[in-house]
Amino acid sequence: MTAIIPAAGSGCRLAADEAGGGPPKALRRLGSEPLIRHAIRSVEHAVDRVVVVTRADLVETVTAELSDVRVPVVVVEGGANRQESVRRGLAAVESTADLVLVHDAARPLVPPAVTDRVVAALRAGAEAVVPVVPVADSLRHVDEQGSSAAVDRTSMRAVQTPQGFTVGILRRAHEVAGAEADTATDDASLVERLGADVMLVDGHPAGFKITRLLDLQAAELIVAADRRQR
Ligand code: CTP
Ligand code: MG
Repeated sequence: MTAIIPAAGSGCRLAADEAGGGPPKALRRLGSEPLIRHAIRSVEHAVDRVVVVTRADLVETVTAELSDVRVPVVVVEGGANRQESVRRGLAAVESTADLVLVHDAARPLVPPAVTDRVVAALRAGAEAVVPVVPVADSLRHVDEQGSSAAVDRTSMRAVQTPQGFTVGILRRAHEVAGAEADTATDDASLVERLGADVMLVDGHPAGFKITRLLDLQAAELIVAADRRQR
């Protein structure tokens, strides 16, 4: 089992919330460690190897930040969007791997138990596994003309990571998608285009993605509260 961690984004929305911006999102500190180090902690117990995808100018820095990860780490250069970065990460997955987890560097607080649920479903034979949580807000669907209609939120789920796949199906999904112009925001949606079933397991509220400054501030409070409890 190999984990691919897409971490090659720039964090534009986070930077936009702050005067002067800051370091790239994956290297932002949460508590004493960068987001990328937290993200790896959610999956490292379950994998034999980690492939981190980062910006070309950050390969050395990211490698240095990850010196204490207890499984081998390979750091590779990412692409212009998340899909391209995952594809490049996948190219660095050894041919001996049969299962892969894809986990956003921007989700630092996913409990390891979520990873365990994804892995258990893969080991039980699922080809594609996605952790999901209920949607808290009421939702409206808006069309191109701007008209809107209520959506039944009880039938909706928000998708998190790590997402789990057989290596074969994820490679095929990225091969097919590679020729298409549009990009997907996650890997399960690419696999689904091949007609594969996507199995859902319970995610966790702590698996939220750090997108805006408010998310980082919330994560800081959670980490500080955890530390006080210990
Ligand atoms: N990602 C990536 N390569 C890209 C773009 C995104 O590996 N070219 C990664 C990010 O580093 C992140 C994950 O995909 O771990 C989810 O993306 P997102 O939250 O959108 O992060 P950013 O793209 O960095 O943020 P923004 O869209 O605000 O710029
Ligand atoms: Mg992005």
